[in-house]
Amino acid sequence: MELSRGVLVTGADGQLGSALCEEFQAETRVVPLTRAEWDVTLPPPTGLPEVDVVLHAAAWTDVDGAEASPQDAAAVNVGGTQHVLELGVPVVLFSTDYVFDGRKREPYVESDAPNPLSVYGRTKLQAEAVAGDDAWIVRTSWLHGWTGTNFVRTMLELGAERDEVAVVDDQRGSPTYVGHLAAAVRELLDLPRGRWHVAGGGDCTWADFAEAIFETAGLDCRVKRTTAAELDRPAQRPAYSVLRSERNLAPTLPHWREGLRDCLERLGS
Ligand SMILES: NC(=O)c1ccc[n+]([C@@H]2O[C@H](COP(=O)([O-])OP(=O)(O)OC[C@H]3O[C@@H](n4cnc5c(N)ncnc54)[C@H](OP(=O)(O)O)[C@@H]3O)[C@@H](O)[C@H]2O)c1
Repeated sequence: MELSRGVLVTGADGQLGSALCEEFQAETRVVPLTRAEWDVTLPPPTGLPEVDVVLHAAAWTDVDGAEASPQDAAAVNVGGTQHVLELGVPVVLFSTDYVFDGRKREPYVESDAPNPLSVYGRTKLQAEAVAGDDAWIVRTSWLHGWTGTNFVRTMLELGAERDEVAVVDDQRGSPTYVGHLAAAVRELLDLPRGRWHVAGGGDCTWADFAEAIFETAGLDCRVKRTTAAELDRPAQRPAYSVLRSERNLAPTLPHWREGLRDCLERLGS
């Protein structure tokens, strides 16, 4: 797709939104909109410039918080997507591995049937339905980057303060560095629309990921492997949610360990 008019990014100061702005700025005009500039629970503001595509990165991403506030989560994730479509330009919607229930023990591909276990997962699946076949629906997983709250930044903080951290070892997925994902989104704009699974290469548990973070950052902190049942968080998460693409020409991302290295380098850790 030629990007002569530019791209509009919602949630532009989120972790993925920031990476998308950086990636696309090199090529075209970027219209970055934060929540303060467009709360997507409301219709689009008037006077927005014309663009070729909307990269819709704004979302309710508090997975546990959505259990207590399902209507608020739906207003952002489902209602927000409806409002983005009102702009009448092609949309890239970002969705999640949490649309799956995790019963499969090999990577989920685009044709696998979703069955979300959480409110968050259900709102993202509804958003996919709202966006329909005319959108690029990019399912990704376990995002980390240089802004906002994410697992890497949380572990860096905890690892600097404590000798030991308890981390879940019975959920397996693919950590994805937002810089790598943003580059793949550019590739996707030259590919057919529809659902695409795009996540970091390889897979691990959260506990494996935490160990790799401490090791790579040189932090002397042990990982106590625990279970989701022990942690007892409000939202149920899939035990297995590794994503792979079954589609021709699907972009492939570097291994998650390379994503972690790039993220830590960017964070100066
Ligand atoms: N994080 C993950 O592990 C993960 C995994 C799979 C898929 N995804 C999907 O990837 C996309 C990007 O996620 P992310 O990790 O970059 O999330 P993030 O860092 O939490 O960023 C989300 C952004 O959306 C904004 N936002 C929230 N409510 C809004 C509203 N009503 N109107 C406008 N903006 C609003 C937030 O602004 P404020 O900060 O001001 O609230 C923030 O800038 C989302 O669609 C998410 O569902 C994420």
